Amino acid sequence: MGGGAEMSVSEKQLIEAARVAQGNAYAPYSDYRVGAALLFEDGVIVTGANVENASYGLSLCAETNAVSNAMNAGRRGGLVGVAVVGPQDKGDGAPITPCGRCRQVLNELAALGGTDPEIACVGQDEVRRVKLSALLPHAFGPDHLD
Ligand code: THU
Repeated sequence: MGGGAEMSVSEKQLIEAARVAQGNAYAPYSDYRVGAALLFEDGVIVTGANVENASYGLSLCAETNAVSNAMNAGRRGGLVGVAVVGPQDKGDGAPITPCGRCRQVLNELAALGGTDPEIACVGQDEVRRVKLSALLPHAFGPDHLD
């Protein structure tokens, strides 16, 4: 099996992990359930789902919760891949990309390890793959504070 095939298997696993995480979303206000999975260079996957709040603006996105889970597990870098799965029955079925705040939150963890993870944004009929640096060019990060 060549490297490309191995990569696609691991992307499938990452997407499946994001789907499982999506099952734990707490989204009673928007009914918009999102799951995210982070892949680290040692092969470990850390996940998160969106968690909403009766005070709507306090809701936390799946990607932010995944980063928080990873950092609370002691991770400080090594982020090589991300998968994001939104509801397949809302909107036009196009892949969703992380919101602006989540791009910044993902950038912090990526920058700590000097990686530029590929983000697999899962839609109904396609997976859109985009680098974090393309979603958040000229990012502000921890290096700026040195
Ligand atoms: N949401 C995410 O969790 N990730 C995204 O990439 C887009 C939006 C959540 C926030 C809120 O709970 C719900 O989706 C609707 O905006």
